[in-house]
Amino acid sequence: MRLLPELFQKNRQWAEKVRSEHPDFFTKLTQQQSPHYLWIGCADSRVPANEIIGLLPGEVFVHRNVANVVIHTDINALSCIEYAVCVLKVEHIIVCGHYGCGGVKAAQHDRHLGLIDNWLRHIRDVRWKHEPMLQRIESEQRRFDKLCELNVIEQVNNVCSTTIVQQAWASGQSLAVHGWIYRLEDGLLQDLNTLITNSDEISSVYRLAIEQEAQKL
Ligand code: CO
Repeated sequence: MRLLPELFQKNRQWAEKVRSEHPDFFTKLTQQQSPHYLWIGCADSRVPANEIIGLLPGEVFVHRNVANVVIHTDINALSCIEYAVCVLKVEHIIVCGHYGCGGVKAAQHDRHLGLIDNWLRHIRDVRWKHEPMLQRIESEQRRFDKLCELNVIEQVNNVCSTTIVQQAWASGQSLAVHGWIYRLEDGLLQDLNTLITNSDEISSVYRLAIEQEAQKL
């Protein structure tokens, strides 16, 4: 007996619906993918990349992990970024965090949770880095929101620092890195004004984005 029959049924219905709306959809996609965007987002089931930005299969290359973290030595994330930038030639990398992120919330506290502490350490580093700003916020909820925003800005910076993105810019490839945040309450995205399109912009855009966060307190 096939397990999870309801999911296979949903899959057949979905494929049928797509075929009825676009008869050559799957045939076209088997030829090649040519997405313009790389989405780096949280693994949270409430933040599905394609649905949020209304794109079909083939239109966005996706990498997701707990709390949308980009670590300089994470071979998984780096491989995705390399493939997206060097082979697919995406023009935009979107780092998208979300308010209410469980990974960020766990990093707010120093309780020991197990193996994931090693992953959350990177967000705790973001927290320590911006401790003075975070300490100025009295409401724990607002402090949590702020850490979600700061985490996106720091991960944008990490993406820009990778050898892959650095080399793409050095060779004149058109590539923009964006930092967005998604609100579960209304399903809307917000741009955190971290758009970076070349190496020279990294430090000034980063500084401005952090200043803006401090002013929003
Ligand atoms: Co999350």
